Amino acid sequence: MKTETSIQGLSASLAPARSARKTIGFVPTMGNLHEGHMQLVREARRICDVVVVSVFVNPIQFGPNEDFASYPRTLEQDSHLLAENGCDILFSPSVEQMYGKQPRLTNIAVNLLTEGLCGAQRPGHFDGVAVVVTKLFNMVQPTYAFFGQKDYQQLAVIQQLVQDLNIPVEVRGVPIVRAEDGLALSSRNGYLTPEQRQIAPKIYASLLAAQQQLKQSESLTIVLEKLRKSLTDAGFVIDYAEARSPQLQTVTAFDQDIVLFVAAKLGNTRLIDNLQIRYTD
Ligand code: PAF
Repeated sequence: MKTETSIQGLSASLAPARSARKTIGFVPTMGNLHEGHMQLVREARRICDVVVVSVFVNPIQFGPNEDFASYPRTLEQDSHLLAENGCDILFSPSVEQMYGKQPRLTNIAVNLLTEGLCGAQRPGHFDGVAVVVTKLFNMVQPTYAFFGQKDYQQLAVIQQLVQDLNIPVEVRGVPIVRAEDGLALSSRNGYLTPEQRQIAPKIYASLLAAQQQLKQSESLTIVLEKLRKSLTDAGFVIDYAEARSPQLQTVTAFDQDIVLFVAAKLGNTRLIDNLQIRYTD
């Protein structure tokens, strides 16, 4: 595995693959890699000739009171994991390499899809994601790019961005990877105290309970109320617990496929999860 920290180095490393018209699979990450990321890397490895993974903690997608400074940076460990899992090129640019010295005057806002859920709680977050992902797509020029479905709204935003701006990449969503007790894997799980880690799987357990209630024909409004109560009773402070269509439109009843979304805090740690529920199953 090669490690590149500059855009020129990345281009030089990718040049032979490009001239041989090989397929390039790209997994953008912020590092502190876990089994969820490795699933993305393995999927890239399965279908692409060359696998590129970026590790870049993107300052512009963090709010002023968020965890940019304390976000775990574990590049050495990440590098070993990536080499073991079939990554060919690790791209880990500095903030200066990514954003240059001149102020950035261009923004990318994907409207509507970013209005609710995490977009409402984290103003500017998805603009920051859209900018960095567009820059990374331009640097890597991948054939395929892989994103986890845990960040469902992010995946929808990127799919829209790629479609609206004709970015020549095929975006693939990869299912959530969970710990044995159901907790969706996330770099932020490392912030949890042992006691909070015991409580954290209750998000997924509550989502599964909500699914069962919906299948037993309880009304969506009541199911969402019960979902919120079970999270609050477990000790979470809820940012949102909502249902949307798979395209993120608001829904009022379970009369179509829906996705349940939760963002909730345990202490200062904000966890997100979602569950896709099919109407016809
Ligand atoms: O999902 C993430 O880790 C980040 O939002 C991404 C896509 C790497 C952009 O910084």
